[in-house]
Formats: sequence, C-alpha cells, structure tokens
Amino acid sequence: MPGRLANKVALVIGAGSSGPGWGNGKATSVLFAREGARIFAVDRVLSAAEETAQAIAQEKGDCTTFQADVTKASEVEAMVQACLKAYGRIDVLHNNVGIAVTGGPVEQSEADWDRVMDVNVKSMFLTCKQVLPQMVQQGGGAIVNIASIAGIRYLGIPYISYSASKAAVVQFTKAIALQYAPQKIRANVILPGLMDTPMIYAPLAGSYGGTEKMIATRNRMVPMGHMGDAWDVARAALFLASDEAKYITAAELVVDGGLTAQVGRTD
Ligand SMILES: NC(=O)c1ccc[n+]([C@@H]2O[C@H](COP(=O)([O-])OP(=O)(O)OC[C@H]3O[C@@H](n4cnc5c(N)ncnc54)[C@H](O)[C@@H]3O)[C@@H](O)[C@H]2O)c1
Repeated sequence: MPGRLANKVALVIGAGSSGPGWGNGKATSVLFAREGARIFAVDRVLSAAEETAQAIAQEKGDCTTFQADVTKASEVEAMVQACLKAYGRIDVLHNNVGIAVTGGPVEQSEADWDRVMDVNVKSMFLTCKQVLPQMVQQGGGAIVNIASIAGIRYLGIPYISYSASKAAVVQFTKAIALQYAPQKIRANVILPGLMDTPMIYAPLAGSYGGTEKMIATRNRMVPMGHMGDAWDVARAALFLASDEAKYITAAELVVDGGLTAQVGRTD
C-alpha cells in the first residue's frame, strides 16, 4: 500500500532528540519515513540526526543525515544544496527546532533573548528563504512549522523569549501561507501543548521545583489528565504535510489535550 507521503522528499530540521527517548522531530522523521517519504534529517548535533536515521533504517526507510546550525545562513544554504543533491527535490519542509530559556525580561540576559529568537524564528526565515524558490520551481510544497501554545497563552512559568518567539512563528507561517497560496505552497503551524519529551527536562524542571513536581503539575493542568507525547505532534505534522491537507493552509493546529480551551479548574 502506498504511504501517505509516497514519492515525497521531506527536509526535517531538528530531526534529532535532545535526550534519550522520542522528541517531536525524531518521531516526525520516523513517521514520515514509515509513510513513504525520503527524509533529509538535519541537526546541529550530527549524532542526534544519526540516531533518527538508524531508527528509520531499522524499518527499511530512506534517510540521509546532515549537520547544520540553522541559525547560520551559509549552513542553511549548504543544507538545501545537499538535500537537492541527494534527492533532487523538496516537497515538505518541517521546521522543528526550538529551545526554551526560563525567565522574564528582568531575569533573562540579552544574549538569551537573541539566542532563542535566532533558533526559534530566524532559523525559519533562513530555511524558507532557501526552500521557497525550490518549491515554486517544483510547482508546490508543504511547510509545517512548530510553534507552541506558549505563543498564545501564559503557561504558569515565565519564559519571555520563548513565548514571544512562538507567537512570531504563528504569524510568520500565516504570512508565508498567504503570499505563496497562488504557487500551491501550503504553510501551517502546529501548536503543541504540554508534551512529555526530552526537551522539557533540563530547561524547565527547576522552575517547577524538580522533575517529579514538573510531571505531576503538567499532567494536572491538562483537561485530559496527562501530557501528550512526540507521536501526537508527529501525527499532526503527517496530516498537514500530506495531500490529505491539500485545501488546508494558514491553519493553526493546536495539539494540547484541550488545555487552551479551558479557562480555569475547580479541582
Ligand atoms: N515538549 C514540549 O512540551 C513542547 C511544547 C510545545 C512546543 N514544543 C516545540 O517542539 C519543538 C522541539 O521538539 P523536540 O521534542 O524535537 O525537541 P528536541 O530538543 O528533543 O529536538 C530538537 C533538535 O533540534 C536540534 N537543534 C537545536 N537547535 C538547532 C539549530 N540551531 N540547528 C539545527 N538543529 C538544532 C537539537 O540538537 C535537537 O536534536 C520545539 O520547536 C519546541 O519549542 C515542544
């Protein structure tokens, strides 16, 4: 049976995982490959991308790894050239990289602010700059960007640069979707809620008073009673990347177990 991404090439940025287990980018790469896509897996940490590639190879999928820091224009340009050399086209651009630093404007340094903005927002500007002309030339494509519900809600702990950067990603995506709709390039944004992935542990646990408290608090906050996982984000990305979403562009897909629809709790 042909997969939902058969014959497509997916450029996944941030395809590794920042810790053991399954991050969003790793799960998305594996799921895309299961559905027939050839994966160009990019990460600043090559060994992380290689772990993803191994998981794909174990399932007899096709994946090529590439090391790039996508905050650097020259590395992004080299990355796109390498992807085109390997696979000849780019059908799906999945922008997954994102980092969080806690603190409000008083606590965060200017360097923290710049770094988070560069990794979370400028990276998407740079990848789109390189990939959009290729998609126009091909006659279309799908871009899936990862934001966060932190871009539309305050989640109980301050991380000002993260919140601002994720709000920027939402509108960045919509502006691209509208500009490129006539060229059949779709752009959609996923807003994950509280997900249990490796990236939350080191940066966030301290702000919740330790790892166990963080897990308990985050589970309790969600109407469904538990955090989501990387596969929840991956399945949403698969839908938006696939032709099943061919009439969907400029959409915000919230994946949060109902959290942002809730005003407050009585228990
Ligand atoms: N886990 C959550 O609760 C949650 C909630 C909302 C949104 N998100 C978003 O999900 C995305 C990350 O998910 P994940 O689980 O895959 O995270 P992760 O940290 O496990 O993986 C991201 C990968 O991106 C790579 N990376 C970081 N900076 C890079 C750069 N400059 N260039 C190239 N690669 C770089 C890292 O090395 C890492 O392997 C982020 O955008 C994050 O903001 C997560």
